Amino acid sequence: MRTGQVTTLMVILSLVMLSFLAGCSRNRPARKPPIHLNPNMDNQEKYKAQSESKFFADGSTMRIPVDGTVARGELFDDPIYNTGKLPNGKFVKKVPVEVDYDLIKRGQERFNIFCAPCHSRLGDGQGLLIKKGYIPPPTFHQDRIRQITDGEMFGIISNGVRNMPSYSSQVPVEDRWAIITFLRALQRSHNADLSDIPADQREALEKAENDSKEQESKVEGEAVK
Ligand code: HEC
Repeated sequence: MRTGQVTTLMVILSLVMLSFLAGCSRNRPARKPPIHLNPNMDNQEKYKAQSESKFFADGSTMRIPVDGTVARGELFDDPIYNTGKLPNGKFVKKVPVEVDYDLIKRGQERFNIFCAPCHSRLGDGQGLLIKKGYIPPPTFHQDRIRQITDGEMFGIISNGVRNMPSYSSQVPVEDRWAIITFLRALQRSHNADLSDIPADQREALEKAENDSKEQESKVEGEAVK
């Protein structure tokens, strides 16, 4: 090899190396994907949803599930639990699940998210959306709504009623029952008297009431001064 050739080769080599170095510069992410020496089937052709397929005879990429396929968590084989209705088509009177404190708590949380915007946290039908002009719902603390069975309530959440939209896509079945148990507790709390309070706690309650009255008269007295 002549000296001239060696120099040319060196120049070319340094240019190549420089161009590699340029790629290393910080703050300038490369637009091209990095060189992938062993692709190892990392990148493969794929079909996008609703696109055409050249592989399947019917030309459609998306496959129809085998008849009778049930998605995980969607085996609705208990009609009472999943519709709130008895086999004779009538609504169940009471929630068909065991009620405990945790369920009511869960119901409260879900109620405050999905129902309170219209019905308010108190259930009086004066939620934020109503103040912004939505059609006002009835208060939950009237006799007619207290008489609605749990099954019918389930139907209302699932399908909506007149001006109220359905919440079936946002509130799964188990949460609908949880909300109903909380709603019952809410109704009960607005329709309670002293006899609902355990005897040993009544005294504390009465004392608290007297204290707050005293506090009020004190504040008033000071305001007069
Ligand atoms: C977007 C506002 C809105 C939300 C959110 C909403 N509701 Fe309602 N709801 C209404 C309106 C409006 C009515 C009155 C429907 C009518 O009579 O036209 C109503 C009525 C009702 C009634 C009484 C039905 C009757 O027979 O009069 C119940 C019970 C009820 N809602 C429960 C719920 C529960 C439980 C949730 C939460 C899962 C909920 N609602 C969420 C607007 C709402």
